[in-house]
Amino acid sequence: MEDKDKINNHNDSAKVITRRDFFNKIGTTATGVVLLGSLGVTLDFLSPNVLLEIPKEFKIGPLENIQPDSVIDNAEHHVFIFREHPGSFYAVSSICTHLGCNTKWNPAGIEGHPEGVIACPCHGSIFDKKGNVLHGPAPRSLDRFLVRVENDKLVINTDEIVSEDKMIVKV
Ligand code: FES
Repeated sequence: MEDKDKINNHNDSAKVITRRDFFNKIGTTATGVVLLGSLGVTLDFLSPNVLLEIPKEFKIGPLENIQPDSVIDNAEHHVFIFREHPGSFYAVSSICTHLGCNTKWNPAGIEGHPEGVIACPCHGSIFDKKGNVLHGPAPRSLDRFLVRVENDKLVINTDEIVSEDKMIVKV
């Protein structure tokens, strides 16, 4: 009988966690968390902090490859490039001036603008080919970018916004 009690006592003591054990486990866990956090910060510090920014200036061409009365939807730079006449080029932003949605070129146009329009799918704004607002809620025209010709290519600079009277480059 006495031996049986000893065995029971032994089993009971095996399940008891002392205060010291408890705090040791908490300490070990906390140290592990801190070490993992430090490792993450160190790895983040060592990895290159490169911001892949799309260049503001880009080229399209050669010019003879851009068909007269055509539109190029350059999704990478969010720009529509128009060639209206044999040598008349201009570039308009495809970012809606309402809340920044990406607009779409609609070649079918709308009543009064059969030549095509730029339409925003978000809230219904419509712009003409030169970026003028035909239908709100867009508060202003689309940005028009500086275009120049260099070595038989169009160079479009999305950092240079120009007025409507300066948007067209003729070749
Ligand atoms: S974002 Fe284009 S109409 Fe609202």
